[in-house]
Amino acid sequence: MSRPPIIQTVRDLQDAAERERAAGRRIALVPTMGALHAGHLSLVKAAREHADVVWMSIFVNPTQFNDSNDFGAYPADLSRDLELCASHGVDLVFAPAPGELYPEGAQTWVEVGELAESLCGATRPGHFRGVTTVVTKLFLAARPHVAVFGQKDFQQLAIIRRMERDLGFGIEIVGAATVREPDGLALSSRNLHLGPQARQQALVLVRALDVAEDSLARGEASHEALVALVARTIDTASLARLDYAELRDPDTLRSARAQITAPTLLALAVHFAPDPDGQGRKVRLIDNRVLQPQR
Ligand code: PAF
Repeated sequence: MSRPPIIQTVRDLQDAAERERAAGRRIALVPTMGALHAGHLSLVKAAREHADVVWMSIFVNPTQFNDSNDFGAYPADLSRDLELCASHGVDLVFAPAPGELYPEGAQTWVEVGELAESLCGATRPGHFRGVTTVVTKLFLAARPHVAVFGQKDFQQLAIIRRMERDLGFGIEIVGAATVREPDGLALSSRNLHLGPQARQQALVLVRALDVAEDSLARGEASHEALVALVARTIDTASLARLDYAELRDPDTLRSARAQITAPTLLALAVHFAPDPDGQGRKVRLIDNRVLQPQR
């Protein structure tokens, strides 16, 4: 299977978009930071259902990392990524150098308000400003009709939908379901950095989501009690440290009421330490589920 063409400049990508549009073809963009896994490939599949051509961007965006160690350690293997793109029918890859998206002296940002302030926005200052800025640049370069993002990054998806509406890009934003390992761990490029013990303990995320869901189903509707239960569950994993566990309105991301009587987002972020024998690195993982109270 031959590798898809790689475009490295914004100008060339805009020209390619112009050609596709002139030929009446719908373009779907799958923005990624590479280190592709089955989660990204499911975004490609979803993209295919909405468009004639599927383009992927591979760019490790420096402005969304609030920790330079995290940026430096972000896994990268373009050659492997291109093989996967080829075998999954990606029609074109946009892989720009950093200076192409952030020209010398760049000082323009795109920033969404309230939606970006809580959850990961509170614990990773500047993260979403970096995401919305780069996604805007990708939208302007690729001029897609559709763009696909994973629901694992629930807040990111909500922010991008808001940004798309506020700026009137006219792009359909599609959210694709989270893909999980057979044992339930949500796929993430960061899972590669977990030591074997931390990898096992990382299942505490999905266990905490299950515990909260079961508890709500059995009639425990207290916001406070459910969050406390989740925190106690995370605490059972010795390498885990809770960053946040929050119950939020799935549309506004505002804090849920004292009693959970409507569909409510349970969003989790957990830090994992390296294994006691030094294997693995520090990793922060997120996961979420929309809890549905009984009627
Ligand atoms: O979700 C990601 O991988 C990134 O945040 C994105 C959307 C590609 C922007 O860099």
